Amino acid sequence: MVEWKGNLDPVEGNGAPGSAEMCIDGLGPGGEVSSKGLGRPIKVNTQGPQLLLGGAVNPSQTQPTHLVQPSLGPLIGDAKNMLAMEKKKQIGIIGAGISGLIACKYMLSKGFDPIVFEARSDVGGVWIKTIETTRLQSPRSLYQFSDFPWPSSVTEDFPTQDQVFDYIQSYAQHFDLIKHIRFNTKVVGIEYEQGLSDKDLEGKWKVVVEENNTLNNSTEVHQVDFVILCVGRFSDVPNIPEFPLNKGPEAFHGKVIHSMDYAAMDYESAANFVKGKQVTVVGFSKSALDIAMECSEANGLRNPCTVLYRTEQWNVPDYLPWGVPLTYLYLNRFSELLVRKPGESFLLSLLATMLSPLRWGFSKFVESHINKKHRLTKYGMVPKHSFVQQISSCLVTTVPEKFYDKVEEGSIILKKSPSFSFCEEGISVDGETTSTTTPLKTDVVILATGFRGDKKLKDIFVSRVFQDYIAGSPNEALPLYR
Ligand SMILES: Cc1cc2nc3c(=O)[nH]c(=O)nc-3n(C[C@H](O)[C@H](O)[C@H](O)COP(=O)(O)OP(=O)(O)OC[C@H]3O[C@@H](n4cnc5c(N)ncnc54)[C@H](O)[C@@H]3O)c2cc1C
Ligand SMILES: NC(=O)c1ccc[n+]([C@@H]2O[C@H](COP(=O)([O-])OP(=O)(O)OC[C@H]3O[C@@H](n4cnc5c(N)ncnc54)[C@H](OP(=O)(O)O)[C@@H]3O)[C@@H](O)[C@H]2O)c1
Repeated sequence: MVEWKGNLDPVEGNGAPGSAEMCIDGLGPGGEVSSKGLGRPIKVNTQGPQLLLGGAVNPSQTQPTHLVQPSLGPLIGDAKNMLAMEKKKQIGIIGAGISGLIACKYMLSKGFDPIVFEARSDVGGVWIKTIETTRLQSPRSLYQFSDFPWPSSVTEDFPTQDQVFDYIQSYAQHFDLIKHIRFNTKVVGIEYEQGLSDKDLEGKWKVVVEENNTLNNSTEVHQVDFVILCVGRFSDVPNIPEFPLNKGPEAFHGKVIHSMDYAAMDYESAANFVKGKQVTVVGFSKSALDIAMECSEANGLRNPCTVLYRTEQWNVPDYLPWGVPLTYLYLNRFSELLVRKPGESFLLSLLATMLSPLRWGFSKFVESHINKKHRLTKYGMVPKHSFVQQISSCLVTTVPEKFYDKVEEGSIILKKSPSFSFCEEGISVDGETTSTTTPLKTDVVILATGFRGDKKLKDIFVSRVFQDYIAGSPNEALPLYR
């Protein structure tokens, strides 16, 4: 139970950061206290007692007034006026990847003094550490801070991980953002606490953080008025397939890791991990393709890498098929008119229907280009869905150069399996492994099965009510987190 003493509203000019007194569980104001349930000393931070969330939420209403948004766009749009009114309030930003840095810079430009909580020891999020061969897959010109161009030293269309990381770091340094970031500080829960009056936005967000560094290992509670969630969706919480009892990794004698564990290894350890082994990579998106490529480079024909997939995808040869970025073709304002969107007006829906032949033509054109370039028909890899569906889901991935050459030579084997399970020697492929047939023998399985960004986002809220607000229903056409 957190109780505020005194008037803490800097907007009204009554109180200043640091002037508040706070009691936790009835213990004395400020200072070190031990918390119930957390099992660690709690240091109460009484600085900047006010602030917001990527949209504030009023739990006294059945619907949030402004939903928490992990990206800044909607926040800027929806809450512009509110932000002006709420000047001087305390803003907590969770995450110092690209989104968190942009949010931080924006808030500074509006006169706020945000505090950024970052679990890792550096800025850059997913770009801090990737597998060795990772490059930007969108063209550099489309992956650029609008107020901070790439340095002239980077001339590649698709910069390497190091180059992307350096670029993000320079952005943070250039705009002097680092001093606002609390590194090695993981937010373990946020909870809304209603204010004394029923007025909107009177409450606070209680942000519980765990600080982990060589000097300190403690839990702190911060009170902020607004929280901007920039926690990313492609890291931290792996999507691990579920298996019936005794048919999961525990049944297997080899090693099973997720692609994020492989990416976390230093390059040499990763190479040694797969060298000379039969490797099976599960998945058919970017992580799977890149890791399979690294395995085939390491092991060649001696130990071909098997890619176990369940859905064929329109993965593109590159983003510049005819020297024109694909995004210019598909993600411009005109192409948006070709796609039906939930809740759109009758006129827009009619327009999308009338333009559907054009949409179909576009799709077939790109599909035939990809098919020809990758020889998909030959390998039985033609997807059942259209390219328009693929790009509308924002899940288009580039195929590493020479990937299908490796398939052709046999150092990468593509194997379809709608589902799979583990057995002692390897993997039982759906519909193929019976008591008389042998399983797919393998030494190592790398699950390149993606991430549970939805779960990461949900779990940061202590309250079930907010967890449900943020994630929406799994059947929603447009999950909030997009
Ligand atoms: C390997 C890889 C390559 C990619 N390549 C491309 C590409 O070429 N083009 C493209 O458009 N997109 C690409 N993406 C997508 C990429 O996720 C985005 O482009 C972008 O980098 C995401 O930035 P972000 O700040 O939203 O999230 P992230 O980079 O994931 O940053 C989130 C940050 O929040 C921190 N955090 C999370 N939870 C907490 C917590 N509870 N407390 C404190 N801190 C927390 C994390 O430590 C992390 O630093 C790629 C993704 C991956 C994984
Ligand atoms: N720039 C780069 O070089 C680079 C490198 C790595 C990642 N990334 C980006 O990072 C993001 C994450 O990529 P990712 O490849 O890690 O994950 P992802 O895009 O989410 O792909 C997950 C893959 O795992 C499969 N899968 C999920 N659950 C499965 C199950 N139970 N059984 C079998 N297969 C299952 C999916 O198949 P279905 O299609 O059948 O669901 C899909 O092929 C993407 O945006 C990607 O573009 C970029």
